[in-house]
Amino acid sequence: MKPNNFDKIAFVYDWLAQFVFGKSMTESQKYFLNKIPVHSKVLILGGGSGWIAKALFAVIPTAEVYYVEASSKMMLLAKKKLNENKRIHFICGTENDIPPHQFDAVVTNFYLDLFPEESLAKVIQIIRPQLKLNAVWIVTDFVDYKWWHKRMLQLMYAFFRLVSNVRNNKLPDWNKAMIEMSGRKRDSMFFYGNFIESAVFQFL
Ligand SMILES: C[S@@+](CC[C@H](N)C(=O)[O-])C[C@H]1O[C@@H](n2cnc3c(N)ncnc32)[C@H](O)[C@@H]1O
Repeated sequence: MKPNNFDKIAFVYDWLAQFVFGKSMTESQKYFLNKIPVHSKVLILGGGSGWIAKALFAVIPTAEVYYVEASSKMMLLAKKKLNENKRIHFICGTENDIPPHQFDAVVTNFYLDLFPEESLAKVIQIIRPQLKLNAVWIVTDFVDYKWWHKRMLQLMYAFFRLVSNVRNNKLPDWNKAMIEMSGRKRDSMFFYGNFIESAVFQFL
């Protein structure tokens, strides 16, 4: 199956996200960055245009970031934003290309929703061994608790299927998948009428 490809929409993605979700899109993703310890080695997976890495360095300037992003156009934007920063390493690829380090933290924002329920455990299993004991894993993503959440999700999956070839068409229960893989939810906050959740997990 052809993988998703955000190249076509890369240059307008942030604008579009901001247009639909307003400040919630950035506030939710920044909310728990202060849970990442100083001097951390951080993996950002599917980070998009790179603003999240800039926000991370604003909170933890001593972090060392590995930025793994599948879209070459998104990567171009991220490199432009962070060109001068020697503390970030760019890897154009997927979860299968994560460099073999032990990370203190991982950030996956609006990334787990790309995988169907049946693949999600496998994806978590690929990422988890790369984490140090007590590492923090920040997930920010949509949840599906109300009728209008479902409606919005249907519209968004239809849109991203068209423009980015996203094959998944249903939000996986990422909370359940993380907990089933022995993740402990340490903290959580909701945004945009409880449609967006940001959560901090640790694996024992
Ligand atoms: C929905 S966008 C979210 C972007 C960013 N996290 C944000 O919220 O602004 C998903 C991002 O993940 C990237 N992506 C998709 N599949 C990926 C994979 N398997 N590994 C790494 N990145 C991936 C896409 O190219 C895209 O930039």
